[in-house]
Amino acid sequence: MPRKNLTVNRARLGHRIAYALRHPGRVPAYLRRAGRDAWLRYRSPDHVSYYRAVMRSDTARSPEAAVGSPCRARWLALGAMQFDYLVSHGLTPRDRMLEIGCGNLRAGWRFIRYLDAGHYYGIDISPDILFAAQDTVAEFDLRDKRPTLTPVRDLTFAFLPDAHFTVVHAHSVFSHSPIEVIEECFAHVGRILHPSGWFDFTFGRTEGEAHHVLREDFYYRTATLVALAEKYGLRARFMDDWEELPHGQSKIRVTHGSEVAARRYTVSEG
Ligand SMILES: C[S@@+](CC[C@H](N)C(=O)[O-])C[C@H]1O[C@@H](n2cnc3c(N)ncnc32)[C@H](O)[C@@H]1O
Repeated sequence: MPRKNLTVNRARLGHRIAYALRHPGRVPAYLRRAGRDAWLRYRSPDHVSYYRAVMRSDTARSPEAAVGSPCRARWLALGAMQFDYLVSHGLTPRDRMLEIGCGNLRAGWRFIRYLDAGHYYGIDISPDILFAAQDTVAEFDLRDKRPTLTPVRDLTFAFLPDAHFTVVHAHSVFSHSPIEVIEECFAHVGRILHPSGWFDFTFGRTEGEAHHVLREDFYYRTATLVALAEKYGLRARFMDDWEELPHGQSKIRVTHGSEVAARRYTVSEG
């Protein structure tokens, strides 16, 4: 299991120098990435545009690598881990699922196969990775499941219906998001979340200072995200059992904060 280093600040110069001395072979690739990212940031008016450009560049090389898997075997294993965890936490074929930042369906193809037809909805800021997601649907012959795959500019969910989704899932998305993007999601996810639904997301965890590396990888304190969710009437719970799995990030589950909040929405069917 990869051990989480919860106190290190990866943005500090001292850490970066020590890391370079420990792993000299990784320095050229890091410098290339830092140069490319500086150029993309210069050309992009905001974080989402910048990250969309990062995804475009990464997807052109390899869709698997663009979502963080160095090879096909890891891509399959990481998807299975997400899927098994959600099923063991109550995901059923009748759930209506929204996957935020679905990428090329590393876990999504398993959700699509498992859920009733038409019950999977994937959104992503990157059209390029959504093209790769279409390839995944074809590869696993899941056309009859009629998944929806939609590009988005933001996380306001303005085009999605009230109280519709019983499960919202975002794996390795907030680990690439500045706090204002996460806040935008919290401000709006309650509207589309079914009263008894839940929203699971992973995040890069630190118990020190919040920091980021190249504005690609972000690290937050658990308490910061819990408080931010509460600000929008949501209840957030740290998922201890996710920590037992071989994954470098941590997981939080968000639900409606109170009976009253949950009853704000009328629904036809549980
Ligand atoms: C590391 S990949 C993970 C993809 C997928 N969740 C998985 O586990 O394979 C992160 C994905 O989130 C998308 N993404 C990043 N920021 C986003 C945002 N603010 N809204 C929607 N998607 C976002 C990226 O384009 C990318 O496809």
